[in-house]
Amino acid sequence: MKEQPTINQLKTKIKQLAKEKNAIILAHNYQPAEIQEIADICGDSLELSIRASKTQAEIILCCGVHFMAETASILSPDKTILLPNPDAGCPMADMVDPVALVAKKQALGNIPVVTYVNSSAAVKAVSDICCTSANVIKVTNSIKADEILMTPDKNLAQYAAANTDKKIHLWEGYCPFHNNLTPGDVAMAKKAHPEALFLAHPECPPQILELADSIQSTSGMIRFAGESDKNEFILGTEIGLIYPISKAHPDKKFYPASDKMYCIDMKKITLEHVLSSLENLTGEVKVPEDIRLAALGSVQKMIDIK
Ligand code: 13P
Ligand code: SF4
Repeated sequence: MKEQPTINQLKTKIKQLAKEKNAIILAHNYQPAEIQEIADICGDSLELSIRASKTQAEIILCCGVHFMAETASILSPDKTILLPNPDAGCPMADMVDPVALVAKKQALGNIPVVTYVNSSAAVKAVSDICCTSANVIKVTNSIKADEILMTPDKNLAQYAAANTDKKIHLWEGYCPFHNNLTPGDVAMAKKAHPEALFLAHPECPPQILELADSIQSTSGMIRFAGESDKNEFILGTEIGLIYPISKAHPDKKFYPASDKMYCIDMKKITLEHVLSSLENLTGEVKVPEDIRLAALGSVQKMIDIK
């Protein structure tokens, strides 16, 4: 029987192959620890988008979910974009489709559409500008109109509405894991860790954001914890963030707001998938050129704002 490679052997092989093939490995902050360990860049959605737009590598291997690989394809049409496990999707991104979005935009008098990057390329293609959790307020304020339609995350849209003067029409989408966090969960975590600050991701519902000491994207939480004089933090976001935030601040303590905040799709990529994808160039994601060109305007406008 053939002996299985150890985790360290797999990691070494991946790094060698990535070098040989001039590939860069990007990983989202929610990815499993062993995937973040082999990545060249880890970050939030905005950081990964910017990085994908700047790399000189010939291959971009995206460890995240499908929309992240699509964003890389939109920005880098001449590169090979690999998603090592093509089953890794985002349930929130699937809650909006371009036909329904255009119909709603028209029904609202053609107001501008701001689309969260957690969406398909086809949805970005019929949008005016994209945003991430890190720049949603800046993006909203950059728009000339007084009314906008924001999709797909109703919670992110309500967070933006609370921080701007604009009227924001919601789309009824949500992240199943952030949306399920309850005030009762937060109260329990605070009771267990009375000294801890509570950091919440804007994908959480408004009643959760009201309880937060700070509202941040995933990388925003990492930065906030480093700048704070506090030593303990309850994280109102997907549980995978515990790994990079603890690594960045080994002297501080981090607790999940709830063990329910576990995104199955963010855990679908394994080291075996990464190796096989690099070896055989499988899992390629390529956005068709007509959709790409239409989507590029929305993504690039966002990146230009930063
Ligand atoms: P950020 O890392 O941009 O905060 O995104 C959170 C998320 O849910 C990505 O799927
Ligand atoms: Fe989508 Fe939520 Fe998973 Fe992020 S955490 S990929 S928004 S389902």
